Amino acid sequence: MSILDKLKEDHDKVREILKKATVLIEQYPKVDVKGERNLMKELLSELEPHSKAEEKVFYTALRKKAKNILSPYEGLQEHKLALQVLKGLQKDQLDKSQRSANMKVLKEMLMHHIEEEESTYFKEAEQCFTSKELQVLGEEFLENKQKIVNSKK
Ligand SMILES: [Fe+2]
Ligand SMILES: [Fe+2]
Repeated sequence: MSILDKLKEDHDKVREILKKATVLIEQYPKVDVKGERNLMKELLSELEPHSKAEEKVFYTALRKKAKNILSPYEGLQEHKLALQVLKGLQKDQLDKSQRSANMKVLKEMLMHHIEEEESTYFKEAEQCFTSKELQVLGEEFLENKQKIVNSKK
């Protein structure tokens, strides 16, 4: 399977979680706190291995081969910020209005990020890699992601 299909699969999972997060955001301040924590935990366990493996395999390959001057710097920065906000949401230090604000910012940032990857980055990848290369990258991505998941256990 092409790396682009694998990335898209992960993005769809994240989109599903964000849809649920939107419902929770609307319930603030009468939100089901436990449900929200669990959802943010689920999001972290999806997002962290995805973005790390994506950086290591996909961004690195793109940077080496991209013909246009595509710099994944914006993408890297968005990963960093999203994980930072998300990790903050795993702790108990925020009050309700801070939590709902952080969830909103996180949701918007991730939606924008995923859309940009699937348009700009994917288009660039389709232009500079053969379908065989995209498949090899897909396997590398899966392997890398699995390693990260296992190291968290
Ligand atoms: Fe990403
Ligand atoms: Fe991604």
